[in-house]
Amino acid sequence: MNIEIVQADRADDEEIKALAVLDEMIFPHKADLFSEKDWQYFRKIFEFFWIFADGVVAGSIHLGLNLEWEGDLPSESPGCLYFAGLGILPEFRRKRITKEIFNFLNGWQINYARANGFKRIVATIRKSNINMVRICEKCGFRITHEVPDFWESPDEPAVILELKL
Ligand SMILES: CC(C)(COP(=O)(O)OP(=O)(O)OC[C@H]1O[C@@H](n2cnc3c(N)ncnc32)[C@H](O)[C@@H]1OP(=O)(O)O)[C@@H](O)C(=O)NCCC(=O)NCCS
Repeated sequence: MNIEIVQADRADDEEIKALAVLDEMIFPHKADLFSEKDWQYFRKIFEFFWIFADGVVAGSIHLGLNLEWEGDLPSESPGCLYFAGLGILPEFRRKRITKEIFNFLNGWQINYARANGFKRIVATIRKSNINMVRICEKCGFRITHEVPDFWESPDEPAVILELKL
């Protein structure tokens, strides 16, 4: 399968709407979806990328540049690439797309981070999303700590994972 990562134009309202529709098809917890107001805020601080598999949209990645997020809102953190979300449409799951993206040596994310001068990648994952935590660990991330009550509906801690570049 040929995987391509294409940066979205966050200034384009139609593209932002399409990303929001895609998220609705991917993320199981409705509380994790951005509201319209959230999109207006996050489109200023995150970069969004489409994931194409053999030329067809298969998912997206949300990244925060030079920030991390453990409190109520993201905060500035020079050199940190904040991994805000990665989602694959149900029909494209279990085809190793995420693994390919995450691949420690050749993965797009790492190359992107290095090429842009980032020193580390930080991810904040729902504690119950054991699969994603494991995938990150397999790709070289290490758990640094947990943040209680980070996620809502259902309320649960976040596992903070870090990959030093
Ligand atoms: C979590 C998610 C991103 C995984 O994407 P994916 O492309 O299907 O994952 P891959 O096919 O690359 O699988 C990577 C590894 O995880 C394992 N894995 C993936 N999904 C799994 C599942 N549901 N149960 C058990 N193992 C799973 C795979 O078997 C593989 O491990 P292996 O190579 O040792 O066999 C995808 O299921 C998803 O989009 N879920 C909803 C959104 C979400 O939870 N995003 C993460 C938080 S930001």
